[in-house]
Amino acid sequence: MLVELYHYLTTPCSRTHRRLGYLTDLLGLQARYRRIGDHWQQHLDNSRRLILQSAQQCTRHNKVTIIGSGLLLDTPLTQLSTLFNEVILIDVIQSRAIRQHCKQLGNVTPVEHDITGLAESLIGNNTRNNTNNTLPTSVARLPKAALASDLIISCNLLTQLAHTPSHYLMKKQGWHEDDPQLQQWQRAIMAEHLSLLAQQDGQCCLICDTHHEYHDKSGDVIEQQQRLLGLSLGEADQQWQWPIAPLGEFDKQHQLLATVQGFCNWSATTSNPPQDSQ
Ligand SMILES: C[S@@+](CC[C@H](N)C(=O)[O-])C[C@H]1O[C@@H](n2cnc3c(N)ncnc32)[C@H](O)[C@@H]1O
Repeated sequence: MLVELYHYLTTPCSRTHRRLGYLTDLLGLQARYRRIGDHWQQHLDNSRRLILQSAQQCTRHNKVTIIGSGLLLDTPLTQLSTLFNEVILIDVIQSRAIRQHCKQLGNVTPVEHDITGLAESLIGNNTRNNTNNTLPTSVARLPKAALASDLIISCNLLTQLAHTPSHYLMKKQGWHEDDPQLQQWQRAIMAEHLSLLAQQDGQCCLICDTHHEYHDKSGDVIEQQQRLLGLSLGEADQQWQWPIAPLGEFDKQHQLLATVQGFCNWSATTSNPPQDSQ
């Protein structure tokens, strides 16, 4: 608890991102990793392997960009910094430890950037009081440093993009999680991210969770969630299970398993992001 408070007070993070809850979420991820990281190891290894496979398939090795770099748990940063001349890390938060690690490697630049472009408009606008309860539109842009990347990696981020902003809207502006307008907005944020990836000239490596399953103690499925809200990604190169919350994390009766899909060379032509998969 004290460790988290220390990091909350000392991690460099803009006031807007702090207010939206990004820092709390990242520190939550760090704390969960400390508690149950052993259960995540296979998922982290699979993600790292897929990223390296994608990097090896890449025809040019000048610049690689990682979106959603976070704590770099699932990213083989040292190998990428050897394989590529330049590495760009994008996340809303770049912790002191990550910045320090980048300095040691020499060719890695951490960039603090909101890839949805939503943060400022969410803070500046009470969406429940404006006309028609309008939610801001996500306009995804890469920072200048990431332009012309030979490889761009969207790293266990896609379904997270709407997560923190939605929690902010529910907590601070009275939105309900089952509101169809909110769900449509979440879907549009993910579709916008896929469009951004699809527009890049470089190769695109995509790793994301696609389904959540809640199991009871005996392993029976009690609830399933489609995390992409109907968006279709096409056929994955690899798929695996990630025990996000094993027994004992929520309580002694339930566990949460995610299905994760990995694409070494994702392209919109095989997936049609704006189309429904059902
Ligand atoms: C599930 S974590 C990914 C794990 C991360 N790759 C790691 O190994 O630590 C999702 C990451 O996406 C970042 N993120 C969420 N929304 C973002 C946004 N709008 N722009 C940039 N990064 C974002 C979070 O800060 C977090 O680090």
